[in-house]
Amino acid sequence: MSDINLEQLGEQILSDIKAVKDKNALEQLRVGTLGKKGSVSALLSTLGKMSPDERKIMGPKINALKQQVAKEIETRQTELKAIELELRLKSEKIDISLPLQPAPTSTGRIHPVSQVIDEISAIFSGMGFSIAEGPDIETDELNFTALNFPPDHPAREMHDTFFFEPDENGERKLLRTHTSPVQIRTMRKANKKPEADWITSTIEPPIRVIMPGRTYRCDSDQTHTPMFHQVEGLVIDKVTHIGHLRWVLEEFLKSFFEVDNIKIRFRPSFFPFTEPSMEVDVQCDRSGGEMKIGQGTDWLEILGCGMVHPNVLRNAGLDPDVYQGFAFGMGIDRLAMLKYGMADLRAFFDADVRWIEHYGFRPLDMPTLFGGLSS
Ligand code: PHE
Repeated sequence: MSDINLEQLGEQILSDIKAVKDKNALEQLRVGTLGKKGSVSALLSTLGKMSPDERKIMGPKINALKQQVAKEIETRQTELKAIELELRLKSEKIDISLPLQPAPTSTGRIHPVSQVIDEISAIFSGMGFSIAEGPDIETDELNFTALNFPPDHPAREMHDTFFFEPDENGERKLLRTHTSPVQIRTMRKANKKPEADWITSTIEPPIRVIMPGRTYRCDSDQTHTPMFHQVEGLVIDKVTHIGHLRWVLEEFLKSFFEVDNIKIRFRPSFFPFTEPSMEVDVQCDRSGGEMKIGQGTDWLEILGCGMVHPNVLRNAGLDPDVYQGFAFGMGIDRLAMLKYGMADLRAFFDADVRWIEHYGFRPLDMPTLFGGLSS
């Protein structure tokens, strides 16, 4: 190759490098010149066929060109990077004078029912209870029969049950009317009855559980909705008596309503699954137009409870001569209404954003016993 051709090739390559507009094209150019099959590499391989004199002259020239090309490519690379950065800085400009978008955690609200379930769970966890759950669609057996409701007993009607159509086996499922069937599920699991395989918790006697969840009855007015929430409590041990029940309920109510003292009274009542059965009233003051729990001389009915009926223990596979215990059930929505002053239960399930913004809780304010339940 003559000097002139070499010079021309050099000039061509250098002007190509300057003209390149992006990284990829530059890389292609690098491969096309300095790569194994590149034009400059091809020149270098011609040296072997030259005479020693020729090589002495051409060798340094070709090598100089190679180095120059490499240097120019590197320079252009740096330039392109700078241009690219410049473009990005221009396109990704942020207007810091714009108001901040509020984070989801600061706009979203926890529903009072969820909040109250968390509060109840925190209180009972502190007393050594665990939490169990059961399905909303329940069998007649677990919702009624195992709980000692005799067949055709009027107590079944008391519940305004939503029944499903009978299935191919003639079995009529229902929407559970209370959380009490979870008592049976929990005890059968504790007793490791083979038919209790579907229960996922691993509770063994002594049993101390609470069971929150949705419940259903065909009923609707200011304080009733067809779907509502209950929390069930169950304690089974070898020595358990009404004194324990009373203490647990008093401690719970004091913590829940965040008062130092609370008076409760037991009134005789009837539930097929407890004997004796009682309703619990809590001391309150209605004088100021506003309900205050834990003071005053009025009474408010708040929950149902009793000692677990021997038939229920037997139906769950526990020996009533060995085990005994107490159960209680209360309406979560009602507790929420009392604590946070909401007048109409139906609004709980209207999905009205204004309501949830007013009555809802901030997601990061988790109820704990040490940090405060509702602060
Ligand atoms: N299951 C009862 C109800 O829904 C409440 C209850 C639970 C009563 C446990 C006694 C024991 O009315």
